[in-house]
Amino acid sequence: MLSTPETETHVYDKPPPHANADWTIDQDWQSYSAEDHETWDILFARQQKMLPGRAAQAFLDGIDILNLSRPGIPDFEELNRILMDATGWEVVAVPGLVPDDVFFDHLANRRFVSGNFIRRRDQLDYLQEPDIFHDVFGHVPMLADQRFGDYMAAYGRGGLRALEYGTLKQLARLYWYTVEFGLIQEAEGLRIYGAGIVSSYGESVFALDDPSPNRIMFDLERVLRTEYRIDDYQQNYFVIPSLDELLRVTVETDFKPVYDRIASLPDIKIAEIVEGDVVLTEGTQDYARSQSGE
Ligand code: PHE
Ligand code: FE
Repeated sequence: MLSTPETETHVYDKPPPHANADWTIDQDWQSYSAEDHETWDILFARQQKMLPGRAAQAFLDGIDILNLSRPGIPDFEELNRILMDATGWEVVAVPGLVPDDVFFDHLANRRFVSGNFIRRRDQLDYLQEPDIFHDVFGHVPMLADQRFGDYMAAYGRGGLRALEYGTLKQLARLYWYTVEFGLIQEAEGLRIYGAGIVSSYGESVFALDDPSPNRIMFDLERVLRTEYRIDDYQQNYFVIPSLDELLRVTVETDFKPVYDRIASLPDIKIAEIVEGDVVLTEGTQDYARSQSGE
């Protein structure tokens, strides 16, 4: 997961002693316990049931291509043989969240960083830090898609630029509302592709079916200006018309003029609808209200 001032839990300032200079560590696959593998299997089975008719075609294809329905926590060595072949991406293990420049540099070089630990049995539904289930089940299937793989690598390069421009806060919102919580319009209806949704039992239903959140067509400037919440289900989802369109407005667009233009505009509040929005669902926000105790 991307660490930003808003999301970071703990970030070391230099690689811990057991890590390499680029912060990677050995996945150490042999040291997972039988219980760890079983935790993966429970989470996998639960999501697998949910995903037909909900997950984007590219995500479902990724599960197949990568043979992820095979039991147990995936061994990165095996996984990477297939993934490399498909799109030139690989998964590397890291000890926790890494500094932004390290994260972006890995992405730009088609390395997706993943935690190597798996959540405890009492954390099946919620945990603060991304574990291997979120990182691998949530993120890696989409990386088997050429277009999405290209998007993520370009995002890494864009991240390094945003660090120079001081616009990371804006760029991080794009990651949040696409890579983590994105929806896509397919011929049969809306589908989920964001890793934060597809790896969550509750949110994979909420994001599509609940009347509470807004569902708004993706617009680059709008998204870069929109605040987000990290502590509960989203109050807004942004819908891309296709992966090709996402690439067109991100990979093929120079963000510098966009950053310059929005520098003088206010941020947009989480659940706010603004002029120009193409709204698919105007949410009731009942869920958010119920959670805030009003
Ligand atoms: N084109 C963007 C830029 O000029 C980089 C980018 C690509 C950002 C893809 C996000 C996703 O900074
Ligand atoms: Fe993530």
